[in-house]
Amino acid sequence: MINKTNVTKNFKKKINELKKHNKLYFNKDNPIISDKEYDELKKEIIYLQEKYKFLKDLKLIENLVGSPPENKFKKIKHLKPMLSLSNAFDKKDMIDFIKKIKNYLNYSENHIEFYCEPKIDGISATLVYENGNLVKGLSRGDGITGEDILANLKTISEIPKKIKGDNIPRLLEIRCEIYIGKKDFFEIKEKFANPRNAAGGSLRQKDPRETSKIPLKYFAYGFGAIEPMVFSNQSEFLSKISNWGFSVNPLSEITRNIDEIEKKHNKIDSQRSSLDYDIDGLVFKVNDLNLQKRLGSTSSSPRWAIAYKFSAEKAVTKIKDIVIQVGRTGAITPVAKVEPVTVGGVVVSNATLHNEEEIQRKDIRLGDTVLIQRAGDVIPQVLNVDTSKRGKSSKKFIFPNKCLCGSITIKEISKSTQKEDAVRRCTKGYDCKFTAREKLKHIVSKEAFNIDGLGKKVIDQFWNLGLIKEPSDIFQLNYKKIRSLEGWGELSVENLKKAINKSNNISLDRFIYSIGIRHIGQENAKILASFFVSIEQFSNLFKSKNRESILKNLVDLDGIGQTQIESIENFFSDSKNVKIVLNLINQLSISKIELKKKSGIFSGKRLMFTGGFKKISRSEAKTIAEDKGGKVLGSISKKLDFLIVGDSKPTKKKIDQAKNLGIKVITEKEWEKILNS
Ligand code: IVH
Repeated sequence: MINKTNVTKNFKKKINELKKHNKLYFNKDNPIISDKEYDELKKEIIYLQEKYKFLKDLKLIENLVGSPPENKFKKIKHLKPMLSLSNAFDKKDMIDFIKKIKNYLNYSENHIEFYCEPKIDGISATLVYENGNLVKGLSRGDGITGEDILANLKTISEIPKKIKGDNIPRLLEIRCEIYIGKKDFFEIKEKFANPRNAAGGSLRQKDPRETSKIPLKYFAYGFGAIEPMVFSNQSEFLSKISNWGFSVNPLSEITRNIDEIEKKHNKIDSQRSSLDYDIDGLVFKVNDLNLQKRLGSTSSSPRWAIAYKFSAEKAVTKIKDIVIQVGRTGAITPVAKVEPVTVGGVVVSNATLHNEEEIQRKDIRLGDTVLIQRAGDVIPQVLNVDTSKRGKSSKKFIFPNKCLCGSITIKEISKSTQKEDAVRRCTKGYDCKFTAREKLKHIVSKEAFNIDGLGKKVIDQFWNLGLIKEPSDIFQLNYKKIRSLEGWGELSVENLKKAINKSNNISLDRFIYSIGIRHIGQENAKILASFFVSIEQFSNLFKSKNRESILKNLVDLDGIGQTQIESIENFFSDSKNVKIVLNLINQLSISKIELKKKSGIFSGKRLMFTGGFKKISRSEAKTIAEDKGGKVLGSISKKLDFLIVGDSKPTKKKIDQAKNLGIKVITEKEWEKILNS
């Protein structure tokens, strides 16, 4: 017999939850669950109502279910990914940025032109014009796929629907930032937390008539796909599209060196409050589009641009407690629990204290009055202590030298610098339940297995119930038990099952990233995956007798250094890790890396570099060789076809070895000739 009261109670609870998310989504433009989770919740409610007819009679869900976002906007793949920007917070970060660019390009001339633009704090969108006609308008989405919001974008009168002018490319994709003016926001400020949310909320309206009620504006700042390419630098691009009728920001200008960059940053920072739109920093872009192309991007952001943020929002609060958190690498991070305070529109109750040294250096104590800062999406941090407000009985904080699991912690000594690490770590790996749980959260995260419906909270729940102890358990869940848990219905269990079954097909690079070897992030995982190609080859690392010789070969892979190699060695020399990884592999189907066969002058050839080049860096040389179909190896062997010798400090031993093996040696001059051919 079903218990009607319980079923009704559960049903009402879900409806209230849905109402809460509706409000967050539609009114505040601040959803805290994914679209999938939202749809699941909605389906669950419909399912319950179908199953228990008496619920229908309660008429609780009229006007609630059956409305968007289930049939929200169509998803469309971007012609080119919409990347994000890396951040700089001070002059030193900017100097590093310029240095990196110069190194990558092996740039010897004095200065590089950077085009400087305000970073508008709005909502990004992309507009696609074919033969001058606006045919597509998408939101950023996850950067790869956006939502079709063309109808809403068309309500913005300043966005050209048809462009006229000379030399307009056949295909022109304009990237822009949609915002609501501060003055206009003032009129509707009751409804939204800030102008950015208002702009987002307006753009997400299902009915464009609703969008048109809120006066949206925009600034165009970049391009996606263009055919044919008719621009040679960023400033020229913006000035041309401005002539074609697009809004571009009037405060942008060229800067040539760090002093000009600093001056511009200070100047705009001081004008900031008088502008009619929110900006949170300046974007500096290499002006020359050819150089931009050479620099390319990492998986998340271009190497040719950076957002130089204005100083972050600050607030004063009090430390109630200092607790320890253990990360997936065993890192022990102290966290201050503070009296909740609003910093830049967000309520903050935790702030990171980074590490033991930081606590000592700033002499942070329990009960202290502190200044905290929240910069962008970064976790808030404690800046300094107001010691005048400190009580007499206050005592220095003694940093625990044990992990939450009870095991001792250590500070590693870096082999390269011989310096002691500032971070204390628990070294127990999967034997520490706190580390293990964090490793599981990493495994299911978006960049790793990306399992919908299995977020951090669910991992905590399943972990506490003993349902998941190691990664392979995810693929052998006891669904019967889960079905009986509070908050889990038939449908959500089915969905979880589906999501998990789907995710056991995984590519080798994601797999390598997922297993969480320290110092192996997404980029390095990709490099390793294209080196090993298949899981079978990668598994050779598990046996200590093979490992040494394999690791030697990794040395010269671009991006893989001694730190990474040591870390791989440490990871696989722990037999528990090997066992856990093997158990996981048994549950999966791991696909080989499809090495993109590029055709070109080095097609099917294996190359190696020694020495530096005059005009480009080693990293760029490698990218060029790969673009021309070649594979770059890290050591001399019979497999090699060419050794390319840069004029600056080549290794004589390598040249001799190559000659002995009959490998063709190419000089810098010959290499330049090949590139120009
Ligand atoms: S350039 C490859 N320029 O900031 C990314 N972005 O974090 C190139 N934004 O998604 C972005 N003003 O929504 C660029 N002048 C500007 C910008 C700007 C605002 C936003 C944009 C982008 C985000 C990057």
